Amino acid sequence: MQRHLISAADLTRDDAVLILDTAEEMARVADRPIKKLPTLRGRTIVNLFFEDSTRTRISFEAAEKRLSADVINFSAKGSSVSKGESLKDTAQTLEAMGVDAVVIRHGASGAPYRLATSGWIDAAVVNAGDGTHQHPTQALLDAFTMRRRLVGRDAGLGQDLSGKRITIVGDVLHSRVARSNVDLLHTLGAEVTLVAPPTLVPVGIETWPCAVSYDLDSTLPKSDAVMMLRVQRERMNAAFFPTEREYSRRYGLDGDRMARMPEHAIVMHPGPMVRGMEITAEVADSERCTVVEQVANGVSIRMAVLYLLLGGNEPAVSHARTTEEK
Ligand code: CP
Repeated sequence: MQRHLISAADLTRDDAVLILDTAEEMARVADRPIKKLPTLRGRTIVNLFFEDSTRTRISFEAAEKRLSADVINFSAKGSSVSKGESLKDTAQTLEAMGVDAVVIRHGASGAPYRLATSGWIDAAVVNAGDGTHQHPTQALLDAFTMRRRLVGRDAGLGQDLSGKRITIVGDVLHSRVARSNVDLLHTLGAEVTLVAPPTLVPVGIETWPCAVSYDLDSTLPKSDAVMMLRVQRERMNAAFFPTEREYSRRYGLDGDRMARMPEHAIVMHPGPMVRGMEITAEVADSERCTVVEQVANGVSIRMAVLYLLLGGNEPAVSHARTTEEK
C-alpha cells in the first residue's frame, strides 16, 4: 500500500483486493456486540470537510472510532476558513496538533493531492472526494458490494471482478464517483459501460478504459450491476438537458426498466438519491437496490483503508484482540 489514498487509479489489482479482503475481516467486527478494535489506539485522525457530506463523513468517523483512534472533526463552515484562512495554514495548524492521518473532502479537484505532496504535513492523506476528480473509498465500497453480491462473501476472498458487466448511468461529466469507479473496476477486470446524455459525457472519454452508450434500454439486459448517478445541479452552470421530466424519461431507472435487467443484477447508487429524477421510489426501495448495504460496507472499507495506510501489516482482526476481549 502507498502512504496516501488520493486516486483509485493509483491502486494496483493486488492493493485493491487486499483492501477488499481486509474489509471483509473488518465487517466481522460489525457482527460483534462491541464493535471495536484497539488497532489505532493512540493515533489521531482529522476529518477535514470543506464540502457537505452525510455518508462519507459519518462513515469515516464510525470507522475511526471502531479502530479506537482519537478523532477530530473539522468543518469549513464555522471555522477560520470563512475568515479567509488557506488550506496550507489550516493543514499546518492540524500538523501542529500531531495528527497521523487527514481525511479530506474539498470542492477543488486536486486539493488532497496538494496536501499529500506539498510537504505541509507528514500525515497520511485520504481523499474523501475532491471536486469532479476522485472519490476512491466510494469506488472501493462499491466494488466490495459488487464482489459480495455477484461473486459471494466467502467465495469472493482473493478474487477480483473479472468479466462482470457494470453500467454507470447519468451525470458522468460532474461525477467523481464515475471516474473512480471506471478506474478501479477496470483494474479489477470488470467491463464498464457509461450511459449518459451526450451533454453529460466528458471531453476525452475515448481515453477512459470503458465503453460509452447513449441508449439505456439496450444496455440494461447486458448488466450485472447498474449504478445510477445523481444529476449534480450544484456543479452545473448551464442547461445540460431540456427538462427533468425528459431526463428521467430517457435516463431514469423505473420499475419497467429494472425488469429488463437480468434476474441476478443489482441496482446501486452512491447517494444522495433524488427520488423521481434518476431513480423512482419503487426501484430505490426494491430488494435489488443496494444503497443501504453500500453505506454499511463503507464503514468496513474505510476501516480497512485506515488500518492499511497507518501501517497495518498483520491480519487486521484475527490477530488483534478486540477491546471486548482485553
Ligand atoms: N456518496 C457520498 O459521497 O455521499 P455524501 O456526499 O453524503 O458523503
